[in-house]
Amino acid sequence: MPARVVVGAQWGDEGKGKITDILAESADVVVRYQGGSNAGHTVVVGSNSFKLHLIPSGILHESTLCVMASGTIIDPICLADEMIGLRERDITCDNVRISENAHVIMPYHRLLDGLQEESRGAGSIGTTRRGIGPTYTDKTRRMPRSIRMVDLLDQGVLRDAVAAQLAQKNVIFQEMYGHAPLSVDEVIEEISGALPIVTPYVTDARAIIRGCLSRDEQVVLEGAQGTFLDLDYGTYPFVTSSHPVSGGACLGTGVAPTEIGEVIAVVKAYTTRVGAGAFVTELEDATGENLRELGAEYGTTTGRPRRCGWLDGVALRTSAELNGATGLAVTKLDVLDELETIQIATAYDIGGERVDRMPENLDHMEDARPVYEEMQGWQQPLGECKKVADLPAQARAYLDRMTELADTAIWAVSVGPEREQTVAF
Ligand code: IMP
Repeated sequence: MPARVVVGAQWGDEGKGKITDILAESADVVVRYQGGSNAGHTVVVGSNSFKLHLIPSGILHESTLCVMASGTIIDPICLADEMIGLRERDITCDNVRISENAHVIMPYHRLLDGLQEESRGAGSIGTTRRGIGPTYTDKTRRMPRSIRMVDLLDQGVLRDAVAAQLAQKNVIFQEMYGHAPLSVDEVIEEISGALPIVTPYVTDARAIIRGCLSRDEQVVLEGAQGTFLDLDYGTYPFVTSSHPVSGGACLGTGVAPTEIGEVIAVVKAYTTRVGAGAFVTELEDATGENLRELGAEYGTTTGRPRRCGWLDGVALRTSAELNGATGLAVTKLDVLDELETIQIATAYDIGGERVDRMPENLDHMEDARPVYEEMQGWQQPLGECKKVADLPAQARAYLDRMTELADTAIWAVSVGPEREQTVAF
């Protein structure tokens, strides 16, 4: 059975966690393919709300393996905390698997991320300060070698690698930021409590995924963040350091492009973004404030208020193409319930020219003005809708317009946080 990819179609926080959780029910394995503890998924089951950063959203289904593949980066302290928290709520986490090749977010990466962001002042990227950029930088720099999960299994290898890293990092800490140097002992001490909790799950992740594919089992590849935070296709430099687009699923897991059958692009019914960078449909007024409050748009990882705005149809069209979307999972449609009218940007005006794709040269994004189309709101609660026919005509018209703009059919619509509040198409 070909693999399914779940990808964020916007700037992250689209609600991929809920969609992955639903798919995980029938999946044999859910694989996270990139990113680290910068992500934040909230999965709601009954009165329980689970906030996850690293562990794939499939974790709530005990018979589904939850793999963090080689494209992810792992903060062992964060992962151990997450596992302890889940165990306290009777979720064993025995179905977790971590790739030997996933690189490790070390305490000095977190420190460096914070120092870098502070020094950038007004020009900051607005990173999550979780050490993402510095870890992926070390991975691609190669020498001195970055630490991978497999290295945590051997104290000798770990000590040597930390020492080599600190020889470089301490120069940066001291000379650029006036920060005291770190010692090998204190770094190892800081992660030591987490190691017995996470290392038993370090394994050959590719062999697990390959086994599932060869047995014709259901494989779900879950992205973190979103398309326009992609290092190559996002609004650079205000992006993350990995590849959330669906192509990243192949790189991050070793699954070949020909083994992917479906790409579900998760798109929020409006737009949000955290951190700096272009946002053409941003609403810096009472309507934006209203969306933030109704949609509880505050970062899962950092608690920061998210920037809010109307649906950007130009971004949606571009995203559907970049990801090869086969279906749209529209989330948080119910947040728009009370609105009398709703705007969708169907094009950008850039210097008097009308464009319907995001420009490759993202400098032009700064000058882009949204060209809006107004649609009627439905002004009734959608939370109880169970099937397509239950959705009011105005809501269906809004979804139809999304389909036209993305040239992609709707796969499902979420009308509330609960699993049951999902309308299948
Ligand atoms: P980093 O990934 O922490 O380096 O942050 C880079 C940019 O990506 C910043 O604008 C962050 O706010 C944003 N970002 C990182 N992870 C997420 C996420 O899970 N949701 C939304 N934005 C994110």
